[in-house]
Amino acid sequence: MSESFDLIVIGAGPGGYVCAIRAAQLGIKVACVEKRATLGGTCLNVGCIPSKALLHSSEHYEETKHKLADHGVLVEGVKIDLARMLARKGEVVSANVKGVEFLFKKNKVTWLKGEATIPAPGQVAVEGTTYAAKNIVIATGSESIPLPGVEVDEKQIVTSTGGLELEKVPGHLVVIGGGYIGLELGSVWRRLGAEVTVVEFLDRLVPTMDTEVGKQFERVLGKQGIKTKLKTKVTGAKKGKDGVTLTLEPAAGGAAETLKADVVLVAIGRRAYTAGLGLKEIGVALDDRGRVVTDGHYATNIPGLYAIGDAIVGPMLAHKAEEEGVAVAEILAGQHGHVNYNAIPGVVYTWPEVASIGETEEQLKARGASYNVGKFPFTANARARAMGDTDGFVKILADKTTDRVLGAHIIGADAGTLIAEIAIAMEFGASAEDVARTCHAHPSLNESVKEAALAVAGRALHI
Ligand code: FAD
Ligand code: NAI
Repeated sequence: MSESFDLIVIGAGPGGYVCAIRAAQLGIKVACVEKRATLGGTCLNVGCIPSKALLHSSEHYEETKHKLADHGVLVEGVKIDLARMLARKGEVVSANVKGVEFLFKKNKVTWLKGEATIPAPGQVAVEGTTYAAKNIVIATGSESIPLPGVEVDEKQIVTSTGGLELEKVPGHLVVIGGGYIGLELGSVWRRLGAEVTVVEFLDRLVPTMDTEVGKQFERVLGKQGIKTKLKTKVTGAKKGKDGVTLTLEPAAGGAAETLKADVVLVAIGRRAYTAGLGLKEIGVALDDRGRVVTDGHYATNIPGLYAIGDAIVGPMLAHKAEEEGVAVAEILAGQHGHVNYNAIPGVVYTWPEVASIGETEEQLKARGASYNVGKFPFTANARARAMGDTDGFVKILADKTTDRVLGAHIIGADAGTLIAEIAIAMEFGASAEDVARTCHAHPSLNESVKEAALAVAGRALHI
């Protein structure tokens, strides 16, 4: 046996690297194994960060080309340098992953480079060396779900990874799956000039979000030129020199049709990734979707073995993985780490953005809850009008009896930032009145949150 550690974390995504840093802060001797050449996992390398870099760059282009003239700013000859845009995205990723490497050094986290296996409880093998570990945290993340009959080559038929690297703007991009990835990357390439069609199996986009928000989202994306084919499934793909021919069928069955695409993006969800760890061999329980089964303290059925992030149940979001990383490190240090799963925001970083926290109206109805709704449109917000970004609204749901905020759903400019004030309100068990009586700066988009909170009691001031 080589060196031993108090804790070995497997995977250096936002779950794993944050867990390792927090453990080191608490005096735990910790190593983190990562097989990728750089730290940061899916999120920093091929997920959150590169997608947001391209969303920002493409938004600048769209704004310059189509929105600035309205503000009296005239720019002629606007062109895209896609190679530069992609290179910039690479620079942003590089700065971020190096940042994690710096944090590991600063906190004295040992990076064990290579692929980890767990030959036995309390042991982690990396590149032929076996290390002893009092505790092990699995933070191996997730991978794209493949679609039978639609074989990914990352050139003509791509996952998000290839969709972040297209060397030229496709004439027609068909996105399979109207969720987070499909709508964010669909927006990027639409702004850069592609015709975009989103094929979604269910009857609405982002089906996990509040229905009213989803419907408004579909209208706004439609105005931007994104076409949607709802209640439709893709049953096959034929690649040719001049593109891909997809076969589509109504989700409920019926006559097939074909759709031609230059590039197809498969974005029908992600699944836990634990391949090659040797979990079956040591008897770790997995659920029917391949996720590691854990208890309320992230412990698996094997003593000393824990799991967090995309590899376990829950929303596949970087900040959820981070919170779990912190919580499990604190639990291992004898503290009381915990995550409030009722207050995890979800944000789609399109323009306008869509943000959601807590329960949706559909969830409240399903559990028979009595609630009040407060809504405020951005058309009535002075700052949104000054910006020229009046699409969307803020919707707050509060308990009818106690007025406690149960959820909030926002579509509009900077919705992802606005939702943070509701996250804090919910963490403190605030009532809608607490939010409504908080002084909000004027003129700010946040005033729409205050107004929606006032509207819960039927007393919005500016509408
Ligand atoms: P990961 O980030 O997947 O990290 C797991 C790491 O473990 C990987 O680096 C992998 O190489 C490593 N690993 C796996 N097995 C082994 C092994 N045996 N040995 C060694 N290393 C191993 N979430 C958001 O919150 N906001 C966003 O804006 C956002 N945008 C996204 C955009 C895209 C295109 C994608 C694909 C995802 C996005 N996500 C976003 C989701 C987010 O990336 C994930 O929820 C998050 O990365 C999960 O973190 P994790 O630590 O659980 O796993
Ligand atoms: P998703 O779960 O968000 O959306 C997948 C969509 O595909 C759903 O609407 C689903 O109904 C549909 N679908 C499933 N099977 C289908 C089929 N056969 N044909 C047509 N449609 C089908 O998954 P996505 O977009 O792949 O992203 C994976 C995860 O990554 C997200 O759930 C999210 O957790 C995370 N992510 C988060 C982002 C953010 O926070 N901004 C951005 C990108 C990804």
